[in-house]
Amino acid sequence: MTISNYIQENETRFLNELYDFLRIPSVSTDPKFEPHILKTADFLAAKLQKAGAENIEICQTPRYPIVYADKIIDPNLPTVLVYGHYDVQPADPYDLWTTPPFEPTVRNGKVYARGASDDKGQMYLHIKAFEAMVQTDSLACNIKFMFEGEEESGSDGLAWFVEKEQERLKSDIILISDTGMISNELPSITVGLRGMSYVEVEVTGPNRDLHSGLYGGAVANPIQVLAEMITKLKDENNRITIPNFYDKVAELSAEERAEMAKIPHSEEIYRADLDLKTTDGEKGYSTIERASIRPTLDVNGIWGGYIGEGAKTVLPSKAYAKISTRLVPNQQHEEITQLIANYLQEIAPQTVTVKVTPHHGAVPAVVSTKSIAYQAASKAYETAFGVKPVPVRSGGSIPIVPMFKEKLGADSMMMGFGLDSDAIHSPDESFGIFNYLKGIETIPLFYQYFAELNQ
Ligand code: BES
Ligand code: MN
Ligand code: MN
Repeated sequence: MTISNYIQENETRFLNELYDFLRIPSVSTDPKFEPHILKTADFLAAKLQKAGAENIEICQTPRYPIVYADKIIDPNLPTVLVYGHYDVQPADPYDLWTTPPFEPTVRNGKVYARGASDDKGQMYLHIKAFEAMVQTDSLACNIKFMFEGEEESGSDGLAWFVEKEQERLKSDIILISDTGMISNELPSITVGLRGMSYVEVEVTGPNRDLHSGLYGGAVANPIQVLAEMITKLKDENNRITIPNFYDKVAELSAEERAEMAKIPHSEEIYRADLDLKTTDGEKGYSTIERASIRPTLDVNGIWGGYIGEGAKTVLPSKAYAKISTRLVPNQQHEEITQLIANYLQEIAPQTVTVKVTPHHGAVPAVVSTKSIAYQAASKAYETAFGVKPVPVRSGGSIPIVPMFKEKLGADSMMMGFGLDSDAIHSPDESFGIFNYLKGIETIPLFYQYFAELNQ
């Protein structure tokens, strides 16, 4: 039986298994969900076993477990390490979902659920592709699986695991489906990721919440102060004003920028999709450049004072914000975190004290389009989709990619099947049934071509 036939015959079951996976609310950032995370690890271990994997182990880390499994068929064949993450972003706010985030529902050819695209749908398709290869006796490479449960909250346990398990994780390439494509008509291969520095800022004014009538006008309001500090982080050209922030940014050559400009992109569709009158960003760069090869800074949340029902006349003691930057080669997140903290202290007026607490960071990455893995991936998409994929740099971050390069010297191949319209991290996240099944079809082709090209 061919792989295509096998996929067709098992389509319904493949989908139902994904829905079962999506029903477990494996949110990693909120400790309340821990039992669900652990249940998800068990679920995966069982599915890997059924699919024909060996040496299955739920590996403990300082935080959430990593699920490992492999199938080594011939030491002379190349070894592919499949990475994915089984944790998801919080689904809040729940009331913005058309159907509940952990009750997968199919509408217009897509399954709606938190994690449908990021990354449960995209990682589960690897287990089904593996099953299809085993059942049709067409496995062309050795496979190792490594699925983590805390990608969405910084991958701390992963660094520890990779450090300790270098031997077990040895492979020729890391294969990851945790990114997107331009469209179903024009697949793309992600060859770049941005890094990140993330801080939380606490601004304290008076030592207690005050009556805004008795004290207002005479004591600085920390929410106002924080807002003013935030507006000082970018200038009128949307350049980040933090001193030395851009020092290590690798600029693209004119040729590289010309190449990027060929990526199909419609400002009109982009705006319409987001209900925006206009886009905005660093002067002198295109929308695609702003969201991929340029660093940026965003306020992720801001709070303080009274936000309950009705009106409370209060001059609050504290104000808070969560601020992240996206970084590009060769910026270093530890260094940028320090620059941000220093600058916030520097611009803080006498009226307040400022505390900056770093969260997780991530390292940017760029991978080659000249490698055997890239050629194999390109051929796989071309065969499955009938169109040659284009390389693109993405604005998102995946901590494992630079980590593997640094710790194991191994390169990653990012074969994403998601779309921007999947709305990852947003309410109503979805994943196309077409994309899921097409992914299951494309991945075995990658193994086949990767083995052939490695000979
Ligand atoms: N899968 C995403 C990253 C992604 C999505 C990269 C689409 C490229 C295209 C990943 O799960 C993610 O959300 N990463 C976080 C970083 C992490 C350190 C919290 C991100 O980019 O915000
Ligand atoms: Mn992801
Ligand atoms: Mn994510």
